[in-house]
Amino acid sequence: MNSTDAAKPAKGLFIRTYGCQMNVYDSERMRDVLRPLGYAPVDGPEDADLVVLNTCHIREKATEKVYSELGQLKKMKEASGGRMTIAVAGCVAQAEGEELIRRQPAVDLVLGPQAYHKLPEMIARVSRAVGDRLETEFETLEKFDALPKAREVDGPAAFLSVQEGCDKFCTFCVVPYTRGAELSRSVDDIVAEARGLAAQGVREITLLGQNVNAFHGAAPALEGGADWTLGQLCRHIAKIGGIDRIRYSTSHPRDMDDDLIAAHGDTSAMMPFLHLPVQSGSDRILKAMNRGHTAADFHEIIRKVRAARPDIGLASDFIVGFPGETDEDFEATMDLIRQTGFATAYSFKYSRRPGTPAAEMHGQVPEDVKDARLQALQSLLRDQQTTFNASCIGRTMDILVTGKGRRPGQIHGRSPYQQAVHFEGPESMIGQIASVRMIDSSMNSLTGECVSVREDAA
Ligand code: 5AD
Ligand code: SF4
Repeated sequence: MNSTDAAKPAKGLFIRTYGCQMNVYDSERMRDVLRPLGYAPVDGPEDADLVVLNTCHIREKATEKVYSELGQLKKMKEASGGRMTIAVAGCVAQAEGEELIRRQPAVDLVLGPQAYHKLPEMIARVSRAVGDRLETEFETLEKFDALPKAREVDGPAAFLSVQEGCDKFCTFCVVPYTRGAELSRSVDDIVAEARGLAAQGVREITLLGQNVNAFHGAAPALEGGADWTLGQLCRHIAKIGGIDRIRYSTSHPRDMDDDLIAAHGDTSAMMPFLHLPVQSGSDRILKAMNRGHTAADFHEIIRKVRAARPDIGLASDFIVGFPGETDEDFEATMDLIRQTGFATAYSFKYSRRPGTPAAEMHGQVPEDVKDARLQALQSLLRDQQTTFNASCIGRTMDILVTGKGRRPGQIHGRSPYQQAVHFEGPESMIGQIASVRMIDSSMNSLTGECVSVREDAA
């Protein structure tokens, strides 16, 4: 930054992020893109010159939230004398496009997930009142090439997007339409970003993708050969100095290959945690969902994963009330949960998404039936989560310290299983990996006492 830049007053930037981890990553990258233009984060939209809503389209509720938030922003924009620029990014932007500007004229810019590298150009167009206010082309690799190489991250854990889009076309899901076809970044590109993160003190990287285990990125230029798989990528990133922990999210059962499973057993940086959405335990419903696997296939994958890494913690996603789901189908899902045992899970009522095949299917399930099923399923999952957390009492685990706690002298971090762990310790331990013995648990967190701090801490 030269002296002229430093003298420029910062413009306030406020990004509100909805939805998945990929959106969290995208929001960080939008901050990187806007930083050279003088945009600095502010605490709330009222202080911002630019407000970006990074949106999620996956369920109807998420989409509705965007329109109600835009209503609030419109009032703030009027109060600012029109100074505020409002941008809508992410999957609602991709899906609704110009309709967004029509429904809420206070919106200045609409940009899909593959266009956020064009933000500076679009802001310039708005300020000059020329050109298009909508960018919803699919140009994933162009985006990654255009993004600033340097990232500024906060804290010792970071996301790194390695793959975007999805070709699976599950019949309930909008992702193939909003994020486009499946595309992987090159290994060289990913490793350069991972090294940059390590240089900033990042010790845990979560590799992200809508279908992350379908990853097939170009092999390193120096090595050549066939595209690499996610297993190869994980083993390679594990060798980067300073990177102690690797996670990946979210996977599909169909892409859970033997090498990736083996990596959980032979690569110590791979965390013993797997988020593998199964959606349903009924083969009839899995077929109608176009999942391409059965409940037995899922059980077989879990058997192999547990053979490779017996202490693995499992997470999944479930949908209740998919069209045609009977009480028996739902019971099959409950059975699958009982037989597997999850550390944690996400569960949703089926939400009808226009344009997806399931939205037109017969046998849409009444809302009260969906409600009852969701309650029963979540109650079972809560019990399993409580049991899993309690089973950790007495164990000593490596905790990545991520921040200070609510009480003075308390700090907190994440266990290998992603559990929140609170314990006594100085703030100087933030960013380090501590050995912590678990002494108490609840459904949402664990309490421990520090045994030692890893000496190889960065
Ligand atoms: N209704 C409810 N849940 C959905 N998901 C995706 N689409 C829908 C929908 N139409 C859930 C799936 C997926 C997670 C990210 O969101 O469980 O794994
Ligand atoms: Fe959606 Fe299915 Fe693709 Fe996951 S695998 S993003 S649920 S279409």
